[in-house]
Amino acid sequence: MNILLKAFLTNFCVVLIFSCKSVDRPYNYKRFPESFSDIRHEYKNYYHLTGCKQGETIASIGAGNGIKEVQISCFVEGITWYLQEIDSSRLYEFEKVLEYHENLIGSPIDADFNLVVGTESSTNLPHGTFDRILMLNVFHEIESRQGIMTEIHQLLNENGVLVIMERMGKMEGEVFDDCKYPKLLEPNFLQEMEDYGYELKTKQLGEEMSNLMFYAFGLGEGD
Ligand SMILES: C[S@@+](CC[C@H](N)C(=O)[O-])C[C@H]1O[C@@H](n2cnc3c(N)ncnc32)[C@H](O)[C@@H]1O
Repeated sequence: MNILLKAFLTNFCVVLIFSCKSVDRPYNYKRFPESFSDIRHEYKNYYHLTGCKQGETIASIGAGNGIKEVQISCFVEGITWYLQEIDSSRLYEFEKVLEYHENLIGSPIDADFNLVVGTESSTNLPHGTFDRILMLNVFHEIESRQGIMTEIHQLLNENGVLVIMERMGKMEGEVFDDCKYPKLLEPNFLQEMEDYGYELKTKQLGEEMSNLMFYAFGLGEGD
């Protein structure tokens, strides 16, 4: 091969590698947004179903790295968040997630974020504080739920709402591909929530294929 052709091919490959390089991923997540329209897609298709409103104080139990909450705050201003986790290593990624999204939208996100580490027996969240509590893709991972579900009664304010997002099973025995926990079946889940003293307010389908559901509960008559 002549030297000019060799030089051309080398340069061509370098340019190709750089032009194909995707955005740096400062944190690990399978639904990774690469543009503002990706964030808008997630919010418009799914997360608006959490019903989060401007100025609310909201806890997210099992928030992971906080990506869903950051994405909600790209569209709903002035939320005071309490991102709660039992796995503190998930919360370490939060600052990177926030910074990445602020860079993508080109402005600071208007929200306050408090990070809270809980235990199996206590959320460590303040009582009587929350307009809304989210459990996004978490309920099925909590093995003994009685304690936490009872504690949530104390955390919500008078008209507070508990929103649970889950991919529900369609038949007995289904498990999640990634975590291998069993999927919940809706009748059992709704009965369990009633036993904990919650009243179903709304139920919305987020996505048909994965049977992604959003349930909103209020405190039952007993509270
Ligand atoms: C499947 S991940 C979902 C994370 C995040 N909500 C999301 O949708 O990206 C479930 C999370 O629940 C957390 N978790 C499990 N049991 C918990 C508990 N008892 N209290 C708080 N978080 C818990 C796990 O550490 C994990 O990060």
